[in-house]
Formats: sequence, structure tokens, C-alpha cells
Amino acid sequence: MKYARKRVLVTGGAGFLGSHLCERLLAQGCDVLCVDNFFTGAKDNIAHLMGNPYFELVRHDVTFPLYIEVDEIYNLACPASPIHYQRDPVQTTKTSVHGAINMLGLAKRVGAKIFQASTSEVYGDPEVHPQVEDYRGAVNPIGPRACYDEGKRCAETLFFDYWRQHSLRIKVARIFNTYGPRMHPDDGRVVSNFIVQALEGRPITIYGDGSQTRSFCFVDDLIEGFIRLMDSPDEVTGPVNLGNPHEMTIRQLAETVIRMTGAKSELVVKPLPADDPLQRQPDITRARTLLDWEPTVKLEDGLQRTIEYFRSKIA
Ligand SMILES: NC(=O)c1ccc[n+]([C@@H]2O[C@H](COP(=O)([O-])OP(=O)(O)OC[C@H]3O[C@@H](n4cnc5c(N)ncnc54)[C@H](O)[C@@H]3O)[C@@H](O)[C@H]2O)c1
Repeated sequence: MKYARKRVLVTGGAGFLGSHLCERLLAQGCDVLCVDNFFTGAKDNIAHLMGNPYFELVRHDVTFPLYIEVDEIYNLACPASPIHYQRDPVQTTKTSVHGAINMLGLAKRVGAKIFQASTSEVYGDPEVHPQVEDYRGAVNPIGPRACYDEGKRCAETLFFDYWRQHSLRIKVARIFNTYGPRMHPDDGRVVSNFIVQALEGRPITIYGDGSQTRSFCFVDDLIEGFIRLMDSPDEVTGPVNLGNPHEMTIRQLAETVIRMTGAKSELVVKPLPADDPLQRQPDITRARTLLDWEPTVKLEDGLQRTIEYFRSKIA
């Protein structure tokens, strides 16, 4: 007899994006299995889901095989910020590559559809703006970021080889900068840095003159993109860019955070790090066309919810 609820595995489910995805899948009536080794994730992120009978948590490292029965797999397990992924670079590559091999093997065994959380970092230091999916990227294979960038690139290779060789149903999303509640407060990302500095009344640090631009996607918009990609017809494999094309300068972001938090923080300017890209922006034409998806949450609304989250954590 076919099991009534869709059984969905979320690896990295106790992390920032994974916890929002678990929430969303439960709200849709799925049976959710969250797998995490808590390298950067936290039980606090999913504590509110623990009483739900359709939510299960398994402490497991995806670099080891997993034997379970599921209909869909979202493979998110991987530390995402440079501070975290450079802490143990060998483990980062293993997580991306062995993790992909193990999850693809599982998908093949049980006939599940599988989603990969890839990244805009596969474009490296891009010579093309905005980045389109056909752009092949410029990544230094031996630099300190390579464990993440090349690990994710190799994972994409594995996904497409399983698709060609074993006809697996794959969905590859290239995720751009995302922010929202449950971001890590200390992972060096600009949105969480600025908010935490402002709420603690400390100076806000800007690198360079602050004219470099970034684009930020609110987490709810991104998760909507995940679901639409997973539910798309089988011929839609990706890669699909998911992110917010709306650009703003770092200085504008800092000023907005100061205004919205009511902080007295001053702006402190420091030299721009050597490898800091001046611009990073997704071309989301493919997501618009294939998934009818684009971000809808306004920056100030997303920031408001993120500020409230950090305020509750700091208080
Ligand atoms: N947040 C972003 O802006 C962003 C951008 C691009 C790509 N991504 C990708 O999305 C995914 C989720 O990112 P996030 O921002 O939620 O990061 P996160 O660090 O909050 O979540 C990653 C989760 O994976 C878990 N994990 C790490 N190694 C593992 C292993 N070997 N086995 C099992 N679990 C493991 C961590 O404990 C954590 O819960 C990552 O794959 C990341 O590369 C995120």
C-alpha cells in the first residue's frame, strides 16, 4: 500500500535554510526526516518542530551512507559561510562530494527525486554580470575557498552524471545570498553582522568605501523557489539560479539597518579584502520562465523579521 504522506528527507535540516524548509514541508502535509550532524546547525532551530508527529530528527553525517525509505531528498548539508567551511576544509569537500554520492546512491536505490543546494560560488570570481546559468565560472582550484566552491561544483557534476547515467530525477538550484531569522550571528555575513552590531550599539564595519553592491533574498522567497523547483516537471533539472536580482550598496544596507534598529552606531570604514567581489547578482530569467518564480518580500519587511529574531536572541 502506498504511504499516504510524501516522505521527504532534508539533509542539513537543522541549519538556517534547512529549518525553514522543514517547517514549510510540514505545513504542506509532508512527513519530514531531518538529518544533521550539527556541525553548524542547532537543535534550537528545530526545537519548535519536535512535538510534531510527522517530524523526525536523525543525527547523522552525510559522508556516511544512509538507508531509509523516502520519496524526495533535499540535500542541503554543508557549512555555508567561509568562516565555517574553512574551519575544516577537508571535511567540507567530503561533505559536498561524499555527501552527494551517498544521497544520490540513496535516491537511486529508492527511486527518489533529489534536490541539490548548490551555490553562486560555483561562478567563482565571475567575469560576467549578472551571472547566467550557462556561465562556467572562474574558480581557483587550490585557494582557501576551493573546498567549498570545487566541492559544490563536483557535486553538480555527480548530479548530472547520475541523471545521464541512471536517469535519476535531479533538481539543482544555485543559491545566491539569502538572509532571514536563524542566520548564524557570528558567521561573518554582512546582513547578520550589521544587525548584531547595531543591536549591540557597536560601530558598523564597512569594508572599502561601501559602494560595492550585493543582492539579498529573504529566506521565505528562497524556500518557495526550492518547492517550485522540486515540483517542476522532470525535464527541469536546473541548474537554476535562485536569488534576488535587486542590487544595493553595502553602505545603503548599513544605513537601512541603523535606521530600522534605531541604533546610534557609527560607520567604520576598513580596507577591502583582496578577494572581495565588487558585484554579485543573479540573472533569474530561467527561474522566472521555468518556475514562474521571483522574490516578492521587500527588503525592509525581510529585515524587520530578521531584526526581531536577533533582538529576541540578544535580549
Ligand atoms: N545561506 C545562503 O545564503 C546560501 C547560499 C548559497 C548556498 N547555500 C547552501 O545551502 C545549504 C544550507 O545553507 P545554510 O545557510 O542553511 O547553512 P547552515 O550552516 O545553517 O546549514 C548547513 C547544515 O548542514 C549541516 N551539516 C554540515 N555538514 C554536515 C554533514 N557532514 N552531515 C550532516 N549535516 C551536515 C550543518 O550542521 C547545518 O545544520 C548549504 O548547502 C549551502 O551551501 C546557502
